[in-house]
Order: sequence, then structure tokens, then C-alpha cells
Amino acid sequence: MSKKTVLVSGGAGFIGSHVTVELIAAGYDVVVADNFSNCDHTCFEGVKKITGREDLPLEVVDFCDAAATDALFAKYPIDAVIHFAAFKAVGESVAEPVKYYKNNLTSFLNVLETAQKRGGCNVLFSSSATVYGEPEKVPVTEQTPRQPATSPYGNTKTMCEDILRDTVKANGGKIKGILLRYFNPIGAHPSALIGELPRGVPNNLVPYITQTAIGKRECLNIFGNDYPTPDGTCQRDFIDIVDLAKAHVYAVTRMVEGKMKQDCEVFNVGTGRPLSVMELVNAFEKVNGVKLNYKFAPRRAGDITAIWADPTLAETEMGWKATRTIEETLKAAWAWECHLAGK
Ligand code: WQD
Repeated sequence: MSKKTVLVSGGAGFIGSHVTVELIAAGYDVVVADNFSNCDHTCFEGVKKITGREDLPLEVVDFCDAAATDALFAKYPIDAVIHFAAFKAVGESVAEPVKYYKNNLTSFLNVLETAQKRGGCNVLFSSSATVYGEPEKVPVTEQTPRQPATSPYGNTKTMCEDILRDTVKANGGKIKGILLRYFNPIGAHPSALIGELPRGVPNNLVPYITQTAIGKRECLNIFGNDYPTPDGTCQRDFIDIVDLAKAHVYAVTRMVEGKMKQDCEVFNVGTGRPLSVMELVNAFEKVNGVKLNYKFAPRRAGDITAIWADPTLAETEMGWKATRTIEETLKAAWAWECHLAGK
């Protein structure tokens, strides 16, 4: 079979760069497109080193620009597009909803409009467990009802899911869609050449932990230890970024090999293993031999108590499951932070 080409929008970012590495390893041709509004070239350069592909195509594109999006599809024989290009800071989205709706919806609509104009495409959308809100029951399956989003960021994920579903339905099989609902992606590539690079003060737990451990941050605030959980801190499904990236290869392959059972499918991408914030902090200290300066602080607005995946469907339908241990993941996260510090 001739090599298939995958366009990775937002491909220079944390998840996009890890997915690009795994796609190339699996034999796909990849085009990385990014407007670098939310990342620098560190991870793209890292991808080239890891894969040895100094010629990896990079297109600097803002997907809010319809003409530029269309030109991209005209330039490459795109068999599938994985759409990551979006803003993703929950708190910022509450403060600047128009910026989030405009960017996250317009960019996706431009990709879909171009795919339609060009006779169809396989579209994989980067969704999030945030669409489940605070679930009544855990673990959550793909049938767990979505709940009204608690942030504009979360709402753009819900809306893009519906936009993709409606577009697939209207295009009679010419556009196929897969929605991957990520839980909490953490960690870094074992090479320590790519990883999470939050701009400014990290919102997410693990980069805040590693930056505290390396001395960039004074103290980790654990937001709330009075939740109705075994140790009082929130529980999440922390999934290794490499496991998550591999799930995208399984999903794209399912699409390009015509293995889908419906024209639009949704899969949870999680470990199925709940871990509390405290458990993760303790594991980080233990596996890396570092003492973390932390204190308990009031709950953070918008946080839910507990959520973790039932990842059975991805395994039975795609043969994918998370395999990396939390220890491996936290070791890799620390190695990446040390690499950034030049250690
Ligand atoms: C996890 C837990 C915090 C920071 C969000 C998005 C989701 C996804 C991942 C966007 C919570 C606690 C955190 C800190 C803490 N997409 N925490 N101190 O909120 O589960 O999910 O990010 O990136 O769509 O909703 O992830 O890492 O922010 O928080 O105690 O300094 O860690 O309270 O319980 P979250 P998170």
C-alpha cells in the first residue's frame, strides 16, 4: 500500500509533536502545520531529532485563515487530518470566551469546509473528557452522557464534537470522523527531546510539579484536600503522552484502512486507573528521589472531584491500551524538565 499522508494541525505542540513521532514510526508521511501562537520550535526540532527526519514538512499556518487552510490541502495529498490546533487553557477561556470560540471553532470549521470542498477526508478530532463534566458514575464510558461544559474551552470541545458528527452525517460517508476523548495527558517522550512546554505559569498539575522540583516555582499548591475521595484530593486518569500518541496511530489506521463501523466514532483515551493528586505527588517524589515543596490550598473553581475512563472500547475496537506505568511517566516528565534546565 502506498504511504498515507497525515496532516497534523497544531503539530508543534505537546500532543501534536508526540503524535507526529508515532505516526512517522508507523510509516506515515506527516505534514506538521502550526501557527506557533502557543508554542515555540523546541518540540518540532525535537521531533526531527527523534525521527531523523530533518526534511519533515512544516507549514506555518493559522487555520483561522480559510484560504491558507485550503492551500494546504491543495499542496499535499492529505489522507487524514488530526486536528489539535486550538487554545486550551481553561481559566483563560473563562476570561476571554470570544477569543476561544473564535479560534477553536473557526479553525475546525475551516478544516471541515476544505475537506468537504475537496471531496472528503478522514478527520480525527482532539476531544477531551471535559465533555463529561462531573460524571454521576465513574469510570465513564463513551455512552456516559455529556454534561454542560464548565468553561468556554470545554464548550468548544463539545461543540466541535457535534460539528464533526453533523458534517459526517451530511457528507454521506465521504468524511469519516473519530473523536478521541483524552483524560489527563502527562509525561514526555523517553528521549527527553519533546515534552510539555506551558507558556508562563503552568495550569496543569504535572508541569507545575516538575517546575517546582527544579526550582522554577516556589511551592506546589494542592487545590483542595477536602474532597469526598480516599485521601481528600481530586482523582484523575493520568495518561502517558506516548500511550496517548499511539492511540492516534491506531485511530488513523482504522480510518485509512476502512475498518470503521460507523462514519463517526468516539473513543475514551485513558488508562482506566484513577490516581489522586496526592498519590501522584508521592509517586513523583519516590520515583525521582526528590522532595517536593507543596501545601494544601483552597479548592480551585471549576475542578471536579473525580473522573477516570473505562477504556474498554478502544481496546476491543482498535486493539489500543495504555501500557506505561505512572512511574515511567513521571520519570520521563522529570527528565524533560531537567533537559529544559540544561541538566
Ligand atoms: C488536575 C488536578 C487540580 C494544578 C484540564 C482540562 C482538560 C485537559 C487537562 C487541557 C486537579 C490539581 C492542578 C496545580 C493542583 N485539557 N492541581 N495544583 O483540570 O483535570 O484538566 O487539563 O489541557 O480538558 O480540563 O487538569 O492538571 O489542571 O488538574 O492541585 O497547581 O490537579 O485541582 O484536581 P484538569 P489539571
